[in-house]
Amino acid sequence: MSADFKNQVVVVTGGSTGIGLSAARLFLAGGAKVVYVTGRNSGNLDKAVKTLGDGATGVVADVAKPADLEALKARIEADGHKLDVLVANAGIAENNDLGATDEALFDRIFDINVKGVYYTVQTLLPVLKDGSSIVLTGSIVGNKGMPRLSAYNASKAAVRSFARSFASDLKARAIRVNTVSPGVTRTPIMENGLKMDEDAINGFAAYLKEAAPLGRMAHPDEIAEAILFLASSKASYITGVELSVDGGLAQI
Ligand SMILES: NC(=O)c1ccc[n+]([C@@H]2O[C@H](COP(=O)([O-])OP(=O)(O)OC[C@H]3O[C@@H](n4cnc5c(N)ncnc54)[C@H](OP(=O)(O)O)[C@@H]3O)[C@@H](O)[C@H]2O)c1
Repeated sequence: MSADFKNQVVVVTGGSTGIGLSAARLFLAGGAKVVYVTGRNSGNLDKAVKTLGDGATGVVADVAKPADLEALKARIEADGHKLDVLVANAGIAENNDLGATDEALFDRIFDINVKGVYYTVQTLLPVLKDGSSIVLTGSIVGNKGMPRLSAYNASKAAVRSFARSFASDLKARAIRVNTVSPGVTRTPIMENGLKMDEDAINGFAAYLKEAAPLGRMAHPDEIAEAILFLASSKASYITGVELSVDGGLAQI
């Protein structure tokens, strides 16, 4: 990636691991002046900031808590910054079995993946520059009926829908809003949220070998590159779209 982001200020929610961490690293490699990375776990965030080096700023913030998002906005204002790019990437995935899903699980998924994305964008609007770019992390499952994941699937359909509406809502400010929808990507979400052990992950890999045109999982950098493309001036006439980055899994 060329220095497309020279001197730019970027927020990546959920930037402590996985896709968000890859994106933060690539923004800095592309010349960004400051990349704010957020997450709930301060230990993971500290580790990420150390790995990312100069330009990375960690802010502990839970996207499901509007007060945390207000504090993030206040931090950006106190630093005297305006945002060029917002990547609303934080999200969780947990299995929910139809017939045995308690309200707390349902609420957790929607509070983080749906309400969290909405309030991330709404709260940070005053610190976004006119002409800036917002990228939301959806998922190909927003258009699929993956078993045991109905709440997660629906939450990601909502994210894709937000990109369409926000692109209209932000017309007057020329802020572009797009969604990147990853396919199966090897990140800690598999162990942490989906509780997959090594056998389950290997089983998934074997399934993809058969089912997906590219026959493998993505590396998080491959998703991050698509996020950077949509965030960049190279995508200056692209808004409201969903870009699937899935090795073809959901395209055939
Ligand atoms: N990996 C895949 O196969 C895949 C496929 C499609 C879509 N996605 C989406 O990609 C995004 C990134 O996931 P990933 O695969 O990179 O997983 P990951 O490694 O688990 O990263 C998730 C990030 O989000 C943060 N996060 C989770 N809940 C949060 C909250 N309430 N507030 C703030 N930060 C929060 C996590 O930090 P803390 O836990 O410390 O808060 C972490 O930084 C998610 O939206 C996910 O749904 C992933």
